[in-house]
Amino acid sequence: MLASMEKAKEEGADLVELCVDSMAPSSHISHIQTLFKQRTLPSIVSYRLKSSRKSSRGGCKNSCFQVLKLALDLDVEFVEMDYEVASDMSMCELIHGRSNTKIIVSSYVNGGGRPSTEKLGDLIACMQATGADVIKLEIAVDYITDLAPIFQMLTYCQVPLIAMAVGSRGLISQLLGPKFGGFLVYGSLGGKSVPGLPTLLSLKQIYKLEHTNADTKVFGVVSNPVGHSKGPILHNPAFRHTQYNGIYVPLLVDDVKEFFTTYTGIDFAGFSIGIPHKEAAVACCDEVHPLAKSIGAVNTIIRRPIDGKLVGYNTDCEASISAIEDALRERQVGNGVASHITSLLAGKTFVLVGAGGAGRALAFGAKSRGARVVIFNRNYERAKALAHAISGEALPYECLQEYCPENGMILANASAIGMEPNSNQSPIPKEALKAYEVVFDAVYTPRNTRLLREAAEVGATVVSGVEMFIRQALGQFRLFTGGLAPEDFIRKLVLEQF
Ligand SMILES: NC(=O)c1ccc[n+]([C@@H]2O[C@H](COP(=O)([O-])OP(=O)(O)OC[C@H]3O[C@@H](n4cnc5c(N)ncnc54)[C@H](OP(=O)(O)O)[C@@H]3O)[C@@H](O)[C@H]2O)c1
Repeated sequence: MLASMEKAKEEGADLVELCVDSMAPSSHISHIQTLFKQRTLPSIVSYRLKSSRKSSRGGCKNSCFQVLKLALDLDVEFVEMDYEVASDMSMCELIHGRSNTKIIVSSYVNGGGRPSTEKLGDLIACMQATGADVIKLEIAVDYITDLAPIFQMLTYCQVPLIAMAVGSRGLISQLLGPKFGGFLVYGSLGGKSVPGLPTLLSLKQIYKLEHTNADTKVFGVVSNPVGHSKGPILHNPAFRHTQYNGIYVPLLVDDVKEFFTTYTGIDFAGFSIGIPHKEAAVACCDEVHPLAKSIGAVNTIIRRPIDGKLVGYNTDCEASISAIEDALRERQVGNGVASHITSLLAGKTFVLVGAGGAGRALAFGAKSRGARVVIFNRNYERAKALAHAISGEALPYECLQEYCPENGMILANASAIGMEPNSNQSPIPKEALKAYEVVFDAVYTPRNTRLLREAAEVGATVVSGVEMFIRQALGQFRLFTGGLAPEDFIRKLVLEQF
C-alpha cells in the first residue's frame, strides 16, 4: 500500500484512501500501524463491514473497531466508517472523543430507480446525528438521469458531502462533483479503468477540476457508447486556453429525450451529439438550424443563454464540405488555375458512399454547393431515400467500381468501411480511383486510411476525416462559447492525439 501511495503522489493525488479491509486477512495490526505512521500523503482510513455492501469485500466488526480506533489514536486525517458502525454506542464514544481526525460516515444507497431528494435528505440527517464531519453516499444508479437529485443534494446540503454514483453511468458524479459543491473527488490509480471512476491522470491532465466552481458551464458529448470520444481531451484544454469557465464531460445517455427533460438547468450549456442520438436529438430541440433540419440530424445542441431554449445545429456538414472545397482550391492553384466561382463543387459530380448520419450531412452540403450528387450505399433503399431528399441520384452499390461517366470527379466515403479494426478495407478498388480528382474519407481512425493511401498513389488530392473532425470541433467550440475557437491550438491537440 505504501508503494501505491507513492504512485498516487506521483500522479498528483492530494489524499489517498487506505481500504484496510481489502488488505490480506493475515495483516497484523502492527503492520497496519506502520502503514498509518509511514503514510506519505494525507489519508482516509476506511474499513468496510462485510454486511454493509453488495461486494464481497469487507471484514468483521471487531477488526473494524480495532483498526478505526488505531487510526483515531494516530490522528490520521480522515477515518471513514459505515453508518452502521458509526451508530454503535462504543464507536459513538470514540467519535466524540477524537482530537484532530475528521470522521466520514458513509452509506450505500441501492433503492432501485431514481433516488428521491427527500429520501436522501432524511438519510443525511440521520447520518449527521452520529457526529460525522463529512457524509458520504455511494448510490447505485441505472441511468445518467438518476444523478439529477444527487446534484441537487450536493448543491443544497449544509454538511460537507461526498456523493459517488456507482457504475459507468455514474462517472459525472465525480467530474461535476466540485461544480455542485462535492467535498472531494475520487480517481483511480495507474490509469486503471473502473466503471464510474475517472482515472486520477485524467482528473489532473484533462479535467483539471481545481479550475471548476459553481459558475462553471457544463458541456458534454451525449452518446452511447461514449468512452471512445475525443471530445474531453480537446474541449477541456481549449476552454482553459481561452480562459472560458467550462468543463466538457462524457455523458453516457440511454434515452436522449429523458436526458434533455431532466437536465434543464441553464448551466447545462451545450452538447455534442454522437452515436446513436443524432437523429432523435432533433426532436429534443426547441429550434433547429435550417440546414440541420433538412439533414435530419444535429451534432451540436446549445442552450441559448437568453431564454434557455435548446437550439440544434449540424457542424459535420460545413466541416466536411469546406475541407473538400479547400482541397479543390489548393489543387487548382497548384495547377495554375484561379477560380472565382462561389463553390468549386458547383457542377462537379460528387460520388458519395454511405447514407448514414455523415452521408446525409455530405449529401445536403454538396447539393447546396451545386454539385451533382450520386449516392452508393450498401442498403440501396436508404441511398434512394437520401437521393430523393436532395434531388440527387442513387445507384446500386455493386456499380460503384465501374461508375465512370467522366474524369475529375469528387469521391467522398461516408461509410464505416476502412474504419478500425477493418483498416485493410476500402470501398473502391485502387484502379477505379483514377477517375477522381479529390478523394475524401470521413473515417478518421486510422488517420491515413487505405482509401486515402491508394488515392494519393494514383495522383488524387486526398482529404482526411481528421480534417473534418477538426473543423466540426471548431464549429462546436464557437457555438459553445459564442466566440472564436483557438484554431491552431485545437488543430495541434487533435493531430497529437490521432
Ligand atoms: N471525421 C468526422 O468528423 C466524422 C464525423 C461523423 C462520422 N464520421 C465517420 O463516418 C463513418 C460513418 O459514420 P455515421 O455517423 O454516418 O454512421 P451511421 O449513421 O451508422 O452510418 C454508417 C454508414 O456506413 C455504412 N456501412 C457500415 N458498414 C458497412 C459495410 N461493412 N459495408 C458497406 N457499408 C457499410 C452504412 O450502410 P448501410 O446503410 O447499408 O448500413 C451507412 O451508410 C464512420 O466511420 C464515422 O467514424 C467521421
